[in-house]
Amino acid sequence: MHELIIVLDFGGQYNQLIARRVRECNVYCEVKSYKTSLEEIKKLSPKGIIFTGGPNSVYDEASPKISKEIFELGIPVLGICYGCQLMSYVLGGKVESAKTSEYGKTETCFDTSSLLFKSLPQKGITWMSHTDLVTALPQGFSSIAQSSECPNAAIADPERKFYGMQYHPEVLHTENGVNMIKNFLTEVCGCSGDWSMANYAKTAINEIRERVGEGKVLLALSGGVDSSVLAALLSKAVGKNLTCIFVDHGLMRKNEGDEVEQAFADWDVNFVRVNAGKRFLDKLKGVSDPETKRKIIGEEFIRVFEDEAKKIGKVDFLAQGTIYPDVIESGTGDAAVIKSHHNVGGLPDYVDFKEIIEPLRLLFKDEVRALGTELGLSDVLVWRQPFPGPGLAIRIIGDITEEKIAILQDADAIFREEIAIAGMDRTINQYFAVLTSMRSVGVMGDGRTYDYTLALRGVTTTDFMTADFAKIPYDVLAKISNRIVNEVKNINRIVYDITTKPPSTIEWE
Ligand code: XMP
Repeated sequence: MHELIIVLDFGGQYNQLIARRVRECNVYCEVKSYKTSLEEIKKLSPKGIIFTGGPNSVYDEASPKISKEIFELGIPVLGICYGCQLMSYVLGGKVESAKTSEYGKTETCFDTSSLLFKSLPQKGITWMSHTDLVTALPQGFSSIAQSSECPNAAIADPERKFYGMQYHPEVLHTENGVNMIKNFLTEVCGCSGDWSMANYAKTAINEIRERVGEGKVLLALSGGVDSSVLAALLSKAVGKNLTCIFVDHGLMRKNEGDEVEQAFADWDVNFVRVNAGKRFLDKLKGVSDPETKRKIIGEEFIRVFEDEAKKIGKVDFLAQGTIYPDVIESGTGDAAVIKSHHNVGGLPDYVDFKEIIEPLRLLFKDEVRALGTELGLSDVLVWRQPFPGPGLAIRIIGDITEEKIAILQDADAIFREEIAIAGMDRTINQYFAVLTSMRSVGVMGDGRTYDYTLALRGVTTTDFMTADFAKIPYDVLAKISNRIVNEVKNINRIVYDITTKPPSTIEWE
């Protein structure tokens, strides 16, 4: 049992960000639909409720509303943007459309005698993004922050513990925004901050033990962060009753299969590594269309997994690495959609099991990493960058051969090594080499060469939906280029991909 904050989602683009900020303050929170019934909220007995922003106007008939009774539960409320307008509207204030929208960084003055701004500066930048604003405050409220366009940039009824902000404290552009959220949690709601990964690990391990008992658990381990942390957690909970099947399709990065195996060598689990490289390569022979490659790999993966699972026989639980963003994205309040393994379409259908367990479904990605570290998982796994299920198959343009895989593995390893030496391995979110099928003329020693062009790709991104190319310093690029052409056979030209996503994608295929 721990303190709970409920984030009521009104459709704002920052709903997940608000929840993450609350968790950063060591307070557990859950994102729920604004339609959540009062009974359920009462049952959950939260220490506070946060209303998110949203794209609507409160006076639109169809806009999401909230019943007045929520304000009679005696629970502190913080409304953000639309949430602030809605609270004002429902409690009898007035919300109007401004002549001009206020957008971006805005200088704002704060009343630091309010608990919301306790120990914070009297002036600062806030991030505004609104057209409507609260023009008349409900009874009991007063203005506690002002900007030039917005006389009620933040409002408070300290008696009833209701607070509102027109700006977005969850966005990093708002100076001290996280501290304002923290003040709401600690000063207003009285939270002590009892959410930590050490506590989570303990509780989760006990819960898994209770649910699984002596049952058998099966996990498809990809070596990615989520499945690795899940394997570690399950291993601590059920030990040898867990079997991890790691399908090595031969399209991993250099030494990666061994690294994954090594990382679990000392863990108390049944670890099955299937070296299926030849099987995959046979199926991929002569195939150059990217989507066909993906399909072949996805299907073959299922076959291999199925073959191995059959050897184990019936299992009681199939573990899945679903994490909280998947749960939120599948619709707050709706039944959770089960995420299939990232490179397998519909794995559960092919395996004989009774139930699915998803012990990470309440965690954000950064919390999954923190949990991994807490459980003693190696940094190699905890800080692994995302890697596509089809692996190097979609980083070799055109058909795939054993020789091309080896060339790409060697070049990619040098790229990664040099990025780590330059200290950029945690700031560039994804970086890799691509073996283009293009060949060009070069000169080496006194001889002419006619070899492959290698492309390097590095991106910075938060969500992988949009991305910028990483601004790797020229001297780092020069060293990488020099090493690759000297150390890897059959490459005589290196290019760096300087496109953003969109219009490009991160992978080349
Ligand atoms: P794109 O290339 O679509 O990539 O900009 C976005 C992110 O998704 C990863 N990716 C994949 N992951 N199976 C996966 O599991 C795939 O087929 C696949 N294709 C792309 C990519 O590495 C990047 O992180």
